[in-house]
Amino acid sequence: MRIIVAVTGASGSIYGLRLLEKLRSNPAVELHLLVTRTGERTLYLETGRKPAELRALAHFSYSIEDVGARLASGSFPTQAMVVAPCSIRTMSAIASGISSNLLLRAADVTLKERRRLILMVRETPFHLGHLRSMVALTEMGAIIAPPIRILSPAAERPGAGRPQRGPGAGPARPAGPGCPPLGPCSGPLPRSLK
Ligand SMILES: Cc1cc2nc3c(=O)[nH]c(=O)nc-3n(C[C@H](O)[C@H](O)[C@H](O)COP(=O)(O)O)c2cc1C
Repeated sequence: MRIIVAVTGASGSIYGLRLLEKLRSNPAVELHLLVTRTGERTLYLETGRKPAELRALAHFSYSIEDVGARLASGSFPTQAMVVAPCSIRTMSAIASGISSNLLLRAADVTLKERRRLILMVRETPFHLGHLRSMVALTEMGAIIAPPIRILSPAAERPGAGRPQRGPGAGPARPAGPGCPPLGPCSGPLPRSLK
């Protein structure tokens, strides 16, 4: 399976890094990497990793300026493209069909070829223009998947994240300190969330 992973300058470059590590461990996946200039900068600021370390995880990587690379053509078959994290700038450009760099062109190709495009849009709060772009992208077939972390000490426990009802449900999740079963937490954040 051929997957394009793109990393932009939005906060949360760790998501792109972890996604690459995870996909790289699957021998059935061929990874093609695109990183924007701001993506390289944010990666270093947030994780201390250099672009070369990210590129080493992919089978192929491309210069963002190389709009003549094979990812710019629909005749190069790919199965999916994930932008993680996806900045508002990149999301807005994709929504408008602006293809001024290889990442934007590859995303446009992914949409026009009716392949799967997943955008991990990272911003908060959203203004109406952001939301309208997300609606437009959803109408075009993209999947908008912002990273959303549940701030619950109980979610940190082993078994958290499994379905809470029905087949496959784990043991009932107990309320954490200061955290009612179905309500906002009032207690201190666990160490891992600080
Ligand atoms: C440390 C840092 C964090 C940023 N976080 C965000 C963010 O969470 N979301 C966002 O849309 N832009 C964020 N930006 C701004 C983008 O990097 C900027 O809009 C840039 O032009 C995006 O370009 P790109 O889409 O080509 O990577 C951040 C910038 C820096 C330096």
